[in-house]
Amino acid sequence: MAEVVFVDSEAAAGTLAAASIRALITRKPDTVLGLATGSTPLSVYAALAASLAENPMDVSRVRGFALDEYVGLPADHPESYRSVITRDAVVPIGLTPENIQVPNGDLATIETAGVDYEAAIRAAGGIDVQILGIGRTGHVGFNEPGSSFASITRIKTLAEKTRIDNARFFASPGDVPIHCMTQGLGTILRARHLILLAFGEEKADAIAAAVEGPITSSKPGSVIQLHPHVTVIVDEAAASRL
Ligand code: GLP
Repeated sequence: MAEVVFVDSEAAAGTLAAASIRALITRKPDTVLGLATGSTPLSVYAALAASLAENPMDVSRVRGFALDEYVGLPADHPESYRSVITRDAVVPIGLTPENIQVPNGDLATIETAGVDYEAAIRAAGGIDVQILGIGRTGHVGFNEPGSSFASITRIKTLAEKTRIDNARFFASPGDVPIHCMTQGLGTILRARHLILLAFGEEKADAIAAAVEGPITSSKPGSVIQLHPHVTVIVDEAAASRL
């Protein structure tokens, strides 16, 4: 059963998660972080950056693996997850860019990109703490409904609802890529600690299904129920259907 923590603001959630990550880095300076994109984890990255600004510590050996990437966007496109992770997390926290990996969404290497990414995570010793948001479809990473609990990093097709949700980042809805590379639910299960955050009423159904619903691949978030160490941090609105 996941530990569910209720907070009254995104800022409070960020402070909590950042404190736990900071404590981990203190114990293990080469901590391997699992980094998520989207608006949800922004408060975590901001709180960690603020904590380090106030009370500096060496994070130069911290490593990171992003959850997912769009397929077919150049890495330097402003909305590629490589760019987003750099802007939202790597720069503000002061992580070493060379230590941060993002799945390769380049079409030329798409067949081997997943297996290569899994090998890189293994070579780093596995992910110590995986930060997760959740989509309205219940997706974690970009594992849309129907994703196998044993899945590894691979190419997936985005759900139409997800493309509509992410259209806000692109000039027009038609510019949202159709495919992505995402860590699998099996990859996520191998991380040693999962921190799932969600805010707002539009996440309430996905959170209820993830935390309390039946364990089913039609609700990918329910994978957290198979993990021995999960912290779910939610505001009142996201928790309203628990
Ligand atoms: C995105 C990402 C997910 C994220 C989710 C929710 O598309 N691929 O990793 O958790 O959708 O996004 P947001 O946090 O902006 O609501």
